[in-house]
Amino acid sequence: MSGEEAHQKSMADSAWLEELQLPQVLISERVRSLHATIEQEWDYLRRSACQTAAGRALWNHVIHDPLAAVLAGESYLRSLYEKMRQDRLSNAREVSGVILAVRTLWFDSRIEAAINSFGDRGAHQVVLLGAGMDARAYRLSCLKESIVFEVDFPELLQIKASLLKEMMASSKDQQIVMIAKSLVRVAADLREGDWIEELQKRGFVPTRNTVWVLEGILYYLSHLHAMQVLEVIAANCNLTHTVLLADFMNKSSVSLSNSTFHFYSDWPDHLLPTLGYCHVKLSQLGDPDAHFGLLHDPQNLFNKLRSLPRSMETHPEDGTPCRRLYLVEASGGPSQDS
Ligand SMILES: C[S@@+](CC[C@H](N)C(=O)[O-])C[C@H]1O[C@@H](n2cnc3c(N)ncnc32)[C@H](O)[C@@H]1O
Repeated sequence: MSGEEAHQKSMADSAWLEELQLPQVLISERVRSLHATIEQEWDYLRRSACQTAAGRALWNHVIHDPLAAVLAGESYLRSLYEKMRQDRLSNAREVSGVILAVRTLWFDSRIEAAINSFGDRGAHQVVLLGAGMDARAYRLSCLKESIVFEVDFPELLQIKASLLKEMMASSKDQQIVMIAKSLVRVAADLREGDWIEELQKRGFVPTRNTVWVLEGILYYLSHLHAMQVLEVIAANCNLTHTVLLADFMNKSSVSLSNSTFHFYSDWPDHLLPTLGYCHVKLSQLGDPDAHFGLLHDPQNLFNKLRSLPRSMETHPEDGTPCRRLYLVEASGGPSQDS
């Protein structure tokens, strides 16, 4: 390491000794009380939305999401900040939150590519299933011609709307504007059979070009419910230009917490064609399209995993389980290229 590099590194490390700076609006009484409701009344499923928002807020050197901190709330920010600080100071190869950062950037880039692939073939839709505290409608310029649907539990969507309202009212110097052509919030439970009807009632048109975004949702569902969701999408996209974007945990990843995670697939690239999807492309963290300059150490966990056959369940060097997260893109049906 050169003298200059060592200096830069020590500056970056010393930044982690400082206190976390919270946005002013986060400490306002109203926002505090909304987050107190989240803490007291939401289960782990709903609260997972705040955890992912905290990741985006604290990886803000690579993800520009100015709404993420307020959507995440103080306690999730503090807890992740502490983990990241420990990782930085101990020179950990994988800093907490890096998986989420890479995942977010991968979905961002694939959403943009999918929209570009539609060209000028009429209006298109982007459906975020289990949207949580996602703020893409406010941050991705590629969505400016998109009709965006956010599907999640009613109480989550309500509090999200209230937090955004508080932020808009408070931000005097920083304008918060929606970029998407329109945004429709659809309160629905994906475990119920009627979520697609709810979506249609709110303006979703099955025959339109659609990007389905299933980010951080499938593994929270049971096997039955996750398969039903994938089947419903397949049934509603046969005749149109459709792109499915989803992340899948493998079996070893789900076993990290069997009370939180349920559905897994070791071979989503084999599963999806059996449900009618085609053109399936699978990436692993660290692949050329899924590292974004954040996973360059060849010895980090993800690069070591990529070098092992996917059928291998435990690492030959240390016997640890091969926990993988697959980032998968597929399209709707044979009419794709017409
Ligand atoms: C880990 S968060 C991911 C949120 C968002 N996709 C992101 O990446 O930031 C999972 C989200 O799925 C939602 N969710 C879980 N089960 C659901 C269900 N059965 N119906 C609707 N939403 C659900 C939760 O409320 C939560 O917002």
